[in-house]
Amino acid sequence: MRLAPSLLAADLADLAGALDLCEKGGADLVHFDVMDGHFVPNLSFGIPVLKAVRARTRLALDVHLMVANPDRLLDDYLAAGASRVIVHWEAAPHLDRLLERIRKGGAEAGVAINPATPVELLVDVLPRLDFVLVMSVNPGFGGQAFLPHALDKARRLRRMIEISGVHIEIEMDGGIDRDNIARVVSAGVDVCVAGSAIFGAGDPQAILAEMSELRERARQETV
Ligand code: DX5
Ligand code: ZN
Repeated sequence: MRLAPSLLAADLADLAGALDLCEKGGADLVHFDVMDGHFVPNLSFGIPVLKAVRARTRLALDVHLMVANPDRLLDDYLAAGASRVIVHWEAAPHLDRLLERIRKGGAEAGVAINPATPVELLVDVLPRLDFVLVMSVNPGFGGQAFLPHALDKARRLRRMIEISGVHIEIEMDGGIDRDNIARVVSAGVDVCVAGSAIFGAGDPQAILAEMSELRERARQETV
């Protein structure tokens, strides 16, 4: 399992401090949420902030595009230093072409599915994917409660991946904390995103250390 703290919940006036915390705390990736006020009601960060973050950390950047028309600014996100780009299934009618563009642009390609979108809809696009992001909240806001149905979706997706014989990681995003992370990992999730559980805690460093410890335990159990 790999851990991806979500900057959305960090102190936005001190992103450099949040990135330091991620590096020192042993995060594997930094999750970067882009919201456009259309696909989701909220606004968050865009390309200039991504560039600034890229310049401040050596960690891979996991860019989650919660935007309508993700094809429109895709090249700019790639050029700004996204290591992985996630587009929403619900926002991308020409998904096959879009995923091909992400890979050609040198990033790993991921697709996110909302809680109401069945994993089975991804069956024909699996060969184009490096990972699938199963949303465990409705996208648009940090700090929401985990939707347990996401665990069943991860298990179904794991079976689909095994049957198809491709190598695809499963990522989960929303409401993950130290109480449910073990259940998330045992449902077959490879990358856990956590925002408010880390940055909203009184001592983010301690929580990150605790979640990293759970990650090590999960790794040893799978050896
Ligand atoms: C929600 C975002 C998440 C969010 C997760 O729309 O995609 O990445 O930051 O935050 P928590 O962990 O607080 O649910
Ligand atoms: Zn996200």
